[in-house]
Amino acid sequence: MKIAFIGCGYVFDIYMRTQWAHHELEICGVFDIDTARSATVSQHYGYKVYSSLEALLTDPAVETVVNLTSIQSHNAVIRRALEAGKHVYSEKPFTTDIDQTRELFALAEQLGLVLTGAPSNLYCDAVSTLWKAVRDGAIGKPVLVYAELDDNPAHMMQLEKVQSPTGAPFPYAEEFQEGCTVEHVAYHLVWLCAMFGPVISVTAFSDFLVHHKTDTPLTPPDTPDFSVACLHFANGVAARVTCTWVSPRNHQMRVIGEQGEITVDNVFHDQSPVHLERFSRVTLAARKAYTVRTQPLLGRLFGAGGRRVPLVRRWKSHAVETEKGVGTSLKHRFVSWLRRREIYAQDKLAGLAEMARAMQENRPQPMPPDFHMHINELSLLIQRAGAHGVALKPTTSFAPIEPLADISINQPDYLATAHPALLEKAASRIVEALHKR
Ligand SMILES: NC(=O)c1ccc[n+]([C@@H]2O[C@H](COP(=O)([O-])OP(=O)(O)OC[C@H]3O[C@@H](n4cnc5c(N)ncnc54)[C@H](O)[C@@H]3O)[C@@H](O)[C@H]2O)c1
Repeated sequence: MKIAFIGCGYVFDIYMRTQWAHHELEICGVFDIDTARSATVSQHYGYKVYSSLEALLTDPAVETVVNLTSIQSHNAVIRRALEAGKHVYSEKPFTTDIDQTRELFALAEQLGLVLTGAPSNLYCDAVSTLWKAVRDGAIGKPVLVYAELDDNPAHMMQLEKVQSPTGAPFPYAEEFQEGCTVEHVAYHLVWLCAMFGPVISVTAFSDFLVHHKTDTPLTPPDTPDFSVACLHFANGVAARVTCTWVSPRNHQMRVIGEQGEITVDNVFHDQSPVHLERFSRVTLAARKAYTVRTQPLLGRLFGAGGRRVPLVRRWKSHAVETEKGVGTSLKHRFVSWLRRREIYAQDKLAGLAEMARAMQENRPQPMPPDFHMHINELSLLIQRAGAHGVALKPTTSFAPIEPLADISINQPDYLATAHPALLEKAASRIVEALHKR
């Protein structure tokens, strides 16, 4: 698929980290209203720079426009690209007004074009592993999810010093203005809605807690930096999702079933460890002990926290394993390796690869329009719930989506994965004794 990028800011360099693994994507060129940014990107990656948006949109070679502009430009850029006859892949959120988003999808349909977009973490190994395990019954009937997106106390993080490898400043002011929920909650929501279908009611609360995060004037100055939402899915599952820029980093998702729990450590890491705990009286009782809770190794001996599930691999799993970023020095490669191992790793081009594959095979997009609109609406509802809270029914819904075709292979034996450890067996006697008078 022949693509061109509009917007060459901070996230552009993250897209480039896995570019080497996507030979199906041919990059025709880039454009940014900030000509210094497009020139820098061109110098680093060797891409052609279009002299104007018009020049990019009238290039007959370009099939798909990749919209990486600031959120407030999304609506206009997506609309112009569609009107120019281009398919569009956009960063999230499509827009900050669900009616505008609906109009864009209607326009795409009317013109026979594909409009799809981020987040691409739906295509990663971690969620494929989780999704498959849930469907295979590893935890029994799923009933509850706790999902966290705490992204550290932003005011302590000196975000004004953060830059992408080619020097794009992290757009912290825009992030504060748009809000942590609009920026981040979709990473959890795509996983949840893919696994459990549409949400039929939302009870949410959001608040503005840390008043001085930056000296840069913000408009508005008081976008909520904390939100919590309880989601009721049509299939009966309940989820509590929390987003903040206040609390120390935690990107965990816990899916709890009647028979066990699956935990994904980091929703921002495509190959995050996934743990399965099949509940037993011992694993559940062991948690009551302070030392078991505070010494993870000891907890593991009792089976608390479960065992690591081998990750399902997908067709682009190798992309994040061997990123080829901007620098090639030893220091750069070491930092890159450390970040991938410890902090996060995302193949942001996976979404475009899946888009191209679906188009080539003449089948619907894995995240269809009604799915995207639902995610967009939920994100906005939660962000804007306010300090008095709301209980709402979303206006959007979607037909449940199926797992990606290649994740049904390799049926692991979940019961073997969760086989009780030696100490767990021994401890069962102590637990029995504690429960007897
Ligand atoms: N920063 C991140 O870590 C991150 C991660 C995932 C997704 N995103 C999303 O990616 C998008 C871009 O974020 P970013 O962090 O790169 O922002 P950014 O501000 O660093 O970059 C946006 C770029 O778009 C350009 N731009 C704005 N309006 C334009 C227009 N009309 N035409 C052409 N260029 C235009 C700007 O000049 C800027 O260079 C946002 O939707 C954001 O939510 C960001």
